[in-house]
Amino acid sequence: MKQLHFGVDYYPEHWERGRWEEDAILMQEMGIQMVRMAEFSWHKLQPSEDVFDFGWLDEAIGLLGKYGIYTILGTPTAAPPAWMVNKHPQILPIDRMGRVRGFGGRHHDCQSNPIYREYIRKLVTKMAQHYGDNPYVIGWQPDNELGNSHQDLCTCECCRQRFQGWLQRKYKTVLALNQSWGTAFWSQEYNDFSEVFAPRVTVTGENPSAMLDWRRFCSDLIVDFTREQAEIIRKYAGKQFITHNYMGFADKVDYYKLGELLDFVSHDQYPGGFYLPEAPHEKNHVLAATLDVVRSYKDQPFWVMEQQSGITGWEVMGRAPAPGQLSAWAMQSIAHGADAVVFFRWRTCAMGTEQYWHGILPHSGNPGRRYQELQEFIQEVNPLMDSLQNTMPRAEAGIVFSFEQEYAFQIQPHHKDLSYTGQAQKYYRALYEQNIPVDFVPEQGDFGKYKLLLAPLQYLMSPELEDKFMDYVRQGGHLLLTMRTGVKDRNNLCMTERELPGRLSEAAGVEVLDYDCLRDASVKVLFAGQEHEAFIWSDLMRLLPQTEALAYYNSEFYAGEPCVTVHPYGEGRCYYVGTEPGESLMDALMKEICGKAGIEPLLAPAADVECMARENGRERYLFVINHSGEARHYQAPEKCRLLRGGQLGSLKAYEAQILAVGK
Ligand code: GLA
Ligand code: ZN
Repeated sequence: MKQLHFGVDYYPEHWERGRWEEDAILMQEMGIQMVRMAEFSWHKLQPSEDVFDFGWLDEAIGLLGKYGIYTILGTPTAAPPAWMVNKHPQILPIDRMGRVRGFGGRHHDCQSNPIYREYIRKLVTKMAQHYGDNPYVIGWQPDNELGNSHQDLCTCECCRQRFQGWLQRKYKTVLALNQSWGTAFWSQEYNDFSEVFAPRVTVTGENPSAMLDWRRFCSDLIVDFTREQAEIIRKYAGKQFITHNYMGFADKVDYYKLGELLDFVSHDQYPGGFYLPEAPHEKNHVLAATLDVVRSYKDQPFWVMEQQSGITGWEVMGRAPAPGQLSAWAMQSIAHGADAVVFFRWRTCAMGTEQYWHGILPHSGNPGRRYQELQEFIQEVNPLMDSLQNTMPRAEAGIVFSFEQEYAFQIQPHHKDLSYTGQAQKYYRALYEQNIPVDFVPEQGDFGKYKLLLAPLQYLMSPELEDKFMDYVRQGGHLLLTMRTGVKDRNNLCMTERELPGRLSEAAGVEVLDYDCLRDASVKVLFAGQEHEAFIWSDLMRLLPQTEALAYYNSEFYAGEPCVTVHPYGEGRCYYVGTEPGESLMDALMKEICGKAGIEPLLAPAADVECMARENGRERYLFVINHSGEARHYQAPEKCRLLRGGQLGSLKAYEAQILAVGK
């Protein structure tokens, strides 16, 4: 099949049929090659129990097909219709407060409910049988943004029983469950698996071990929910691909595990989301990190299934993207590994919750500034997209990222401002601003690919992971560990055999004998003759022979004690950072550590200019993106060709250039 690179999310069911052809023509003129449709249209496809109507969708697919536009079908299971919910109210989810959540939004469903699952099997089977051979249908997206809106769901009786079954399979005996959850505390022992609850809000704190298993169970439930649909689609529509629209760092479902069901991962990218910080400095690195983590979920190129195409907004709105900014954001997605970009949405909807989440076309449907900008962008970039096939960003630095650690810190954040994901992003920022590409790496990933591995907050530990980290360093890797490493076992119970960071102290060369949670205070830190600030936490440690202190605390009762250390181990080095470095300390440390690891920036850093590369064995494509509304300059590499852009070395406002650099 021909490679497709640009598309839109299209909702023909929101508009009169008389308009569809004009839409198709406008899309074709713009260079749109595909649409995603139907992911919320359950009622239109099955208006009542025994009536299925695919006619309208057949017509839309056929009409678009006539204009050379292919279709990705969403299964509409994020929007169970009112007739079904009225007939089977137990489909509605129950939150942790024990409240039934009502009909009228989306995702008002309990994913373990067998009646609901039966409806899904029936509809998805019919859809897959009906569209499996349609030449215009190229792929599927089961449901929509799985995990979205489910953060607090579902604790109904069905989910409770399913959780009990999950625990029984995991622990076999109730004795093992009691030990693994430490239920001797506060008399939480169970005599039988059937006594276990789906965790409702308690009057006091919760059992961290029980809550960690609950998070794992919820993630597995979503994977199972998706697997059921994916199996049906593979059976009847095996020639078409299956993907899903992820949400970057969203954590309800373990995206690595979900990815095993998919041909490739997709993601929804809204850089101007009204819920994000305004200041570019506070979010540019997060946007880049989001794309990098998405690439890591299958360690391969991905698609953007929803790329912002106008002002975002539900009840309140974000800023208007300035001329050029939508293109710069789309190019940023491509730079970090997107092989296709689908814009959300085609036309701004006149009704419903998302009336102000603007599409390429305004409410009026008349093409305007956004249409023209993206038309030009697609026509210019589409020919280049074919050369980018089979290229990937290549990083020499990796950040270890795990959903289980994220769950454990959500359950016990320690400090109001400590977040596992946030911490990873803080390390990421320092590399991003140096133009050093970064991969996120799962625990089961190949550590050996990286010169430098940053592993912040490795709180839950296992002997296998300890071995893996130690082998990595022994074989010459540069590893950075931090505070709160090796604290717990995988049941979320504190380990007691050794001082922190447990067995890893052999590699790290430190033993943490005490610590301080800083609350609202900061601590001063001396590094290379300069004073900096650090936050959240201070580890107080004893250095083992050969360990060198790189930085010292410079305030509090532990002023003068080491704060950042390095220890040679085997062929490599292990750094230990006992606090959360503020930005100036982080930047200084990362410069030093990257330098020692022999990692070179892609380009000399320039303010507001993002640089990223995609490469294969022969070529390297350098992306240089100006995120500012003013002209910027950068120092171009010596041997390179400008593939897209005005002038080598200078960037107009929001200009995004592509350079081919000889290898
Ligand atoms: C998400 C969803 C879309 C839409 C947009 C805008 O990304 O997947 O269905 O709701 O947000 O709100
Ligand atoms: Zn439920």
